[in-house]
Amino acid sequence: MILKKPQIIVKNREQLDGIRESGKRNIEILDTVAEKIQEGMSTEDLDRIVYETTKKLGGIPAPLNYEGFPKSVCTSINSQVCHGIPSEKVILKSGDIINVDVSTIYKDYFSDSSRMFCIGNVSAEAKKLVEVTKEAMDEGLKQVYPGNRFGTMGDAVHKYALQHGYTVVRQIGGHGVGLEFHEEPFVSFVSKAGTGAKFVPGMVFTIEPMVNQGTDGIYIDGNNNWTVYTMDGKLSAQWEIMVAVTEEGYEIMAY
Ligand code: MF3
Ligand code: CO
Repeated sequence: MILKKPQIIVKNREQLDGIRESGKRNIEILDTVAEKIQEGMSTEDLDRIVYETTKKLGGIPAPLNYEGFPKSVCTSINSQVCHGIPSEKVILKSGDIINVDVSTIYKDYFSDSSRMFCIGNVSAEAKKLVEVTKEAMDEGLKQVYPGNRFGTMGDAVHKYALQHGYTVVRQIGGHGVGLEFHEEPFVSFVSKAGTGAKFVPGMVFTIEPMVNQGTDGIYIDGNNNWTVYTMDGKLSAQWEIMVAVTEEGYEIMAY
């Protein structure tokens, strides 16, 4: 039989154990970034920290050479929505908000999560965007349990962001993860409640909304064909967790 639709993989216990081990390393890499990140550093310095910590932990940075991505981590500052490329020329300064998106391959299992960091003195508006984005992700998390649907989860994220006057990026979202970097399904955070696949124990995916201060419009940098920016130049924030669906609800595999 030929499957017509790409399928969502339900992982077995052995695979979940492997993904969890990969996720532990992803968390440790982000913890190391959290300890070291500071004003005056370049995003290239962050790339080096991620590369070296990943290697020390026996892993491989999943972004490196992924579809031609040139670095080990994505570092997206201020109006950059995602897929910022580390550079010696980008120096962290007081007032910046930055997403550091780490993905690890460990013994062939993939993990993926990201956090926001506030550098020095950040404006109240920027801080609020960072906090509300995290809360929106948590609203989605509450909807993860067997029998509920992806669309309901995404809608919960979207509603929370809208209530606070923000918009959510439509074209980019979460994804299944574990045996590959990006698996089915595409996980939208502007979805309709009651739609989409039902959660089944053993599914592993990311919740990673990109929340914008202004318009939800975005564009891709024509020079590197990777970095995504807000259309209006206003701020964007993102947090990403990797979760497995369990019999009771969910298990956080990386954050
Ligand atoms: N880590 C991103 C995600 O959350 C994917 C980045 S692809 C890369 O899905 F090549 F830019 F690393
Ligand atoms: Co991801």
